[in-house]
Amino acid sequence: MSRVPFAGVGRVVSGAVARPRTSFVCQQCGAQFAKWVGRCNDCGHWDSVVEEAVAPRPTAGPQRTSIAIGAARDAKPVPLGSVEPQTASRVSTGLVELDRVLGGGIVAGSAILLGGDPGIGKSTISLQVLGELGRRGMKALYVSGEESPEQVKMRADRLGSGDSILILPETCVEEVLEQVEETNPAVVLVDSIQTMHSRELASAPGSVGQVRECAAALVTMAKASGRPTILIGHVTKEGTIAGPRVLEHVVDTVLHFEGDSDGGLRLLRAVKNRFGPTNEVGVLEMGESGLRDVGNPSAVLLAERPKGAPGSVVLPTVEGTRPLLVEVQALAAKSALAMPRRTTLGLDANRVAVLTAIVDKRAGLKLWEHDLFVSIAGGFRVAEPAADLAIIAAIGSSASDQPLPADLVLFGEVGLAGEVRAVRHAETRLREAAKLGFARAIVPAATARGAKAPDGLSVEGVASVGELWSLLFRARRPRPEPLDA
Ligand code: TYD
Ligand code: MG
Repeated sequence: MSRVPFAGVGRVVSGAVARPRTSFVCQQCGAQFAKWVGRCNDCGHWDSVVEEAVAPRPTAGPQRTSIAIGAARDAKPVPLGSVEPQTASRVSTGLVELDRVLGGGIVAGSAILLGGDPGIGKSTISLQVLGELGRRGMKALYVSGEESPEQVKMRADRLGSGDSILILPETCVEEVLEQVEETNPAVVLVDSIQTMHSRELASAPGSVGQVRECAAALVTMAKASGRPTILIGHVTKEGTIAGPRVLEHVVDTVLHFEGDSDGGLRLLRAVKNRFGPTNEVGVLEMGESGLRDVGNPSAVLLAERPKGAPGSVVLPTVEGTRPLLVEVQALAAKSALAMPRRTTLGLDANRVAVLTAIVDKRAGLKLWEHDLFVSIAGGFRVAEPAADLAIIAAIGSSASDQPLPADLVLFGEVGLAGEVRAVRHAETRLREAAKLGFARAIVPAATARGAKAPDGLSVEGVASVGELWSLLFRARRPRPEPLDA
């Protein structure tokens, strides 16, 4: 028996007489339907059918998609050598950290997608940037689909960002484009892309089809006119920008704004950047009058560190190419539960579980009798394996109730056999530690042999967790381990 006997029935047959202005397209297989269906008749995928505007078909030649923008009508192939390199003209945003993430400022005609949790400061940073551009004589248009002009005004006053910004409360993208034509701003901001809708589509604002259509229209405008355009995007619970992934493909730059919205520190990350490095991070601080550059984030992150407390360890981590010193904290407390609790914050729970098992096995601590909490202070997140050694030291310190020296940093990846492996950017990490006055670093043995120690920092190498134990902790000797044999 065939699986889908009438696959294709109900599809919009190309060349049909009465062509609808929109059609419903499966995002998995591309099948088209005249009306919305919950399950694609063709590929069987659930919830993958999305409304799309039907572009008028050109009379001859292949159909252009709305994404193929900026391309000349009658393009001819030319040797790459004869193409003049584009010297991207950039304008500074007034925030050093944002400029760094953008690769040196905003590029003319670029489309930037700024994503982040609610309340993280997307509207704030955008307003600050528009204010700064206004001061540089650039006319800025703030399209607000979320807040009234009065609300935006209140925030602008608080930020002291100029009155030169034009504000447009509008959610219809066709109207927005019309107003852009009329007022001819130098830069356009849309807050947020999820509130925009196109008249062409019947689906609700925020739906995948709407978000994609509106973004494509705005990006086309940016490319054709050379106006930098910033789109603010909401983030779903899973942490991706709400709407289709294709949103990330149409824009030039995707920035993620993260951090602990209760704390002051914010991290700005370039996830994608056609005009600069990706994986670059900027560190900003939310204060009374908006966001400020943080010149020395390591010092801020370590400012409240308890000295001489068991379970506190400093880790030189690297975000992109940027070193940051963060505090790893562990608390091992006797548990009354049959299944002791394991809680992590800012670290991967599975990773910490593996490291806990390694500590148990190699150092003979009875961690199964303890509840264990491990976190990165200050709402920071660390995903790199270079954190392993510091996590192990923090757990060991808390479980054995022995504080570690206050002037010590540790980094290194730890394997299942308890071996300590080298990690990237070792010298960058050591330099940052030395810069902030740390005197001692425990690193993978291979790194200690190869890396140049900065002045004032004594670097010790360890090849195994056992060696780490004998360096740091008294009394409790590790069991002999096969690696040392
Ligand atoms: P907002 O920019 O509205 O966030 P988003 O647009 O990402 O949802 O940020 C609002 C938060 O920032 C809010 O909790 C208040 C705080 N805030 C300050 O602490 N200082 C300021 O100067 C401003 C404007 C906001
Ligand atoms: Mg907002």
